[in-house]
Amino acid sequence: MCGIVGYIGKREAKQLLLSGLKELEYRGYDSAGIALFQEQGIQVFKATGKLHHLEDKLHAVSTQGLTAGIGHTRWATHGKPTELNAHPHGLTHSYVVHNGIIENYVALKKQLASTFISQTDSEVIVHLFEQHLNKGKSPTTAFTATLADLNGAYAILLITEHCPEQIFFARNGSPLQIGFSEQGLFFASSDAPLVGICQNTCYLEDGQWGIANAQEVLLFDTQHQAVTISTSPLPASSITAQKEGFRFFMEKEIYEQSTVISDILMGRLQAQHIHIEEISPDWLTTYQSITLCACGTSYHAALTGSYLLEQLAKIPTNVAIASEFRYRNPVLNPEGLLIVISQSGETADTLEVLKLVKKQGIKTLALCNVDNSSIVRLADKSLLLRAGIEKGVASTKAFSAQIMTLWLLACYWGQSKGCLHGIALQKEIQALEKTHQVLRSATSVHDRIHRLSKRYLHGHGFFFIGRDIFYPLALEGALKLKEISYLHAEGYPAGEMKHGPIALADAELFTIALMGKSRLYNKIKSNVEELSARDSTIIAIATEYFELADDLIKINAYTHPMLEFFEMLIVVQLLALEIAIRLGNDVDMPRNLAKSVTVE
Ligand code: G6P
Repeated sequence: MCGIVGYIGKREAKQLLLSGLKELEYRGYDSAGIALFQEQGIQVFKATGKLHHLEDKLHAVSTQGLTAGIGHTRWATHGKPTELNAHPHGLTHSYVVHNGIIENYVALKKQLASTFISQTDSEVIVHLFEQHLNKGKSPTTAFTATLADLNGAYAILLITEHCPEQIFFARNGSPLQIGFSEQGLFFASSDAPLVGICQNTCYLEDGQWGIANAQEVLLFDTQHQAVTISTSPLPASSITAQKEGFRFFMEKEIYEQSTVISDILMGRLQAQHIHIEEISPDWLTTYQSITLCACGTSYHAALTGSYLLEQLAKIPTNVAIASEFRYRNPVLNPEGLLIVISQSGETADTLEVLKLVKKQGIKTLALCNVDNSSIVRLADKSLLLRAGIEKGVASTKAFSAQIMTLWLLACYWGQSKGCLHGIALQKEIQALEKTHQVLRSATSVHDRIHRLSKRYLHGHGFFFIGRDIFYPLALEGALKLKEISYLHAEGYPAGEMKHGPIALADAELFTIALMGKSRLYNKIKSNVEELSARDSTIIAIATEYFELADDLIKINAYTHPMLEFFEMLIVVQLLALEIAIRLGNDVDMPRNLAKSVTVE
């Protein structure tokens, strides 16, 4: 992950770099740093922790007249989150910021035989560059020779006193783009720092590299052939998310889900049928099978989607975790469709799966929240999630948007194939239309969850259990709790507990049972009885009184399982939120995590 920014122009660089880093902080907040060109050389400032520590440090420092520099916000991959490991990394004359992983850094370090200050993989880049310079190469040749030495993924910005006010840049596997503005030239890991400042942007392709100064950018491909820069327009102003009275962005985003769901349906439910403008029925129905691929919360959405696609569209569906799928030499159906799901559109493993599958000539569809992201640009077709900016690192509204879009897609597919029609189709449409109300009224349980949460701040673990579509929801509930409370939680298929995990059962094991009335209710009841018999503390999320529950969180009864799903989703999200708040954690920026994971 990590975010990188660069600027060369007429304005003071420090503030522009800091503002850019603020927009990229979601990519990592272990440390931040900037390097600025000044008359006597390059000046570097670093601080551990969130960006405001660096801002505090820079407050009293005068950087007037310094109009070029590079910056970095870090999510630690190699080496602890210390100041020494913070970027920019440099030797006396040159400094680099890097996003990605240099896989052969250990071998390179051995070859270089120089003294390394940090434990990072990134530091080798600048040592290699200086070594090539010392051998008499020009800065440009030293830069390309450095790139040739590297294996792995990178987005790199490098500055050197040998070429004042120039930035060397390269991309291979990690996002990097150039922003063009009257104020100067910008570099960034995503659109966010550029919107509102730059009119146009150039998204670099893998293997491209170049050199920029305030007047011009020279761009080259892997063969060192000059490439003509092609640009895309950027929006004129950025929409900045505010907390609007909520304690955390995550809390606000949980409450926003009802509106997001209405937005997703806009223009897509027509009279008695479903219409998705971006995809024609003919295109959909050519495919014989589906593979869904994603990471993290998006993977849980994919798993839920597989139940929906099989049940509603009667199409064989596989689900895979992207980081596993890409290395297992998958045997793909040439008549099948790959669907990748990603909030950010930048997750490295998901992006690599997309590339791998496209190379095999298989068609791809992306469900993504960020327009112009790498995944959207690469996929054959995309459906944007319409969730708006999600700031909380723990995903909430993007998850609902993914589920809703998959549910809509499954219905549309079934309708297009002719296997979902008549009363069954109307039942789905009615439930789709009702979902936003369910999400709105579900938040009325917030007070009760707040009171209940004080009983669940300890214990040796939580098991979220469910069956059918409530199983992926159990996975998501456990992930939310882990991410922001740092308590151990697992999601499990309720029927599997007896095959191992039940050995853990005692009063300090908290079982959160997702007891949807609409699917396999009697089965999960038996599974919960088995756990209760072994003294596990039971928190039932259910539509009716359940005598074995130590605590009951009552939800409304619906005949459609997806309505129960969404009501329970609010419960598990709020439970994680309230427990984390009681434990005093930073809900929006939990430790060790980042919102966009651009390394594998
Ligand atoms: C990170 C985020 C998760 C997210 C996952 C996949 O781990 O913290 O919230 O689910 O990446 O990200 P994507 O952007 O591809 O959905």
